[in-house]
Amino acid sequence: MALRKDFLWGGATAANQCEGGYLEGNKGLSTVDVIPAGRDRVSVMKGKMKMLECNDQYFYPSHEAIDFYHRYKEDISLFAEMGFKCYRLSIAWTRIFPNGDDAVPNEEGLKFYENVFDECLKYGIEPLVTITHFDVPLHLVKTIGSWRSRKMIDYYERLCETIFTRYKDKVKYWLTFNEINMLLHLPFGSSGLVFEKGENEEAVKYQAAHYQLVASAKATEIARKINPEFKIGCMLAGASTYPYTCAPEDVWKAMERDREHYFFVDVQSRGEYPNYAKKMFERMNIKLKMEDGDEELLKKNTVDFVSFSYYGSRLTSADPEVNTQTAANLFPTLRNPYLKTSEWGWQIDPLGLRITLNALYDRYQKPLFIVENGLGAVDTPDENGHIEDDYRIEYLREHIVAFKAAVEEDGVDLLGYTTWGCIDLVSSSSGQMSKRYGFIYVDKDDDGNGTMKRSKKKSFYWYKKVISSNGEDLE
Ligand code: BG6
Repeated sequence: MALRKDFLWGGATAANQCEGGYLEGNKGLSTVDVIPAGRDRVSVMKGKMKMLECNDQYFYPSHEAIDFYHRYKEDISLFAEMGFKCYRLSIAWTRIFPNGDDAVPNEEGLKFYENVFDECLKYGIEPLVTITHFDVPLHLVKTIGSWRSRKMIDYYERLCETIFTRYKDKVKYWLTFNEINMLLHLPFGSSGLVFEKGENEEAVKYQAAHYQLVASAKATEIARKINPEFKIGCMLAGASTYPYTCAPEDVWKAMERDREHYFFVDVQSRGEYPNYAKKMFERMNIKLKMEDGDEELLKKNTVDFVSFSYYGSRLTSADPEVNTQTAANLFPTLRNPYLKTSEWGWQIDPLGLRITLNALYDRYQKPLFIVENGLGAVDTPDENGHIEDDYRIEYLREHIVAFKAAVEEDGVDLLGYTTWGCIDLVSSSSGQMSKRYGFIYVDKDDDGNGTMKRSKKKSFYWYKKVISSNGEDLE
């Protein structure tokens, strides 16, 4: 079995990391607009440091980002030149509902995305839309505590109903929440949660998770009414966890770690809370507030496909003495001595992608979609301004070989592959521009200086060949 003929090759971005124009077109402020670059970024994202206003002493990379808001036509034409079949992007909630609870949507915001979708469709590029990618209207954080409140479900529903109706003939593929499991690790960055001293943070997070899971199921229900052709997916920060040794205690720990993440997709894809989660809540003395009808809604509205991001595998040990850590996607992991790392310490493990694909397919038996994968690296233009990013080509090549093996040799059903940050954009974890993922270079530095000029890297031409040969020509 080869890759599907209609395999969705492409790239992915998120509104807050590329659009800029943070107050243009009547857009309201969202959580990401008050998350600064620099050393306080992670504390703010974790909900440990409360920062709900902009402060002149900080630099906020989302405010201008790479100015996709004004340059989307040029950017999409470059995607088209590479032969993209698909472009994954997110909708900024506050462009559509500036405060989140507005009675009427903002026409300028709706029109902006309509133009973006039309531009994609002009080139035969299928839009894949993340309904929310790490942004919550700031007004809802201030007034109701964001996803602490059940009212969020109604506001999210209003957003979904509005965009599903408006774009029903332009968009087919939707993802409800980006990396939904990141709520546990970056509660403010992903979901707008800030904690008060002394409260049971785990209870707050799992209650918020319940509301997001209900909201995701509601979105699926509404989507099917508005257009039965829609395909709705969930989105997981994926990566299998390896045990540090073959000691059964390590294997057990790795299984527990994986369940922490699978928990969300277990509900979204199988339609009910798994028994291990119910037992965990008992042990943690967490009593979820559920309403009549929640369980039935979850059961009836499971996703059509499972999407995930993959940057590298995770490693864990039951032995507290084993504690050499390295950075990874959003939270650190143990250092695996068998793997190389990126300049940011993220471990590189192409076979881990094949393992993760198999684990997810065995568990859910639904089509999968790799919606993020890539190498964050420093790119230095040579004297002619060219970027020979062979390191990025090598990373992507090895991961493509791995997912092709999962499809061709293991029989995994894979819908597509959208590499992360197909055009350089602001890094989510660090707020830097210098952590680049793109095929397209953007002339801008970490302090916001630069011309914003776009130029093609060596990987641009390489990926074009990969796409036109449907993954056969990887040289
Ligand atoms: C994922 C996010 O966690 O990883 C993206 O969905 C993010 O928003 C990507 O940009 C890469 O992480 P970073 O920190 O290198 O930008």
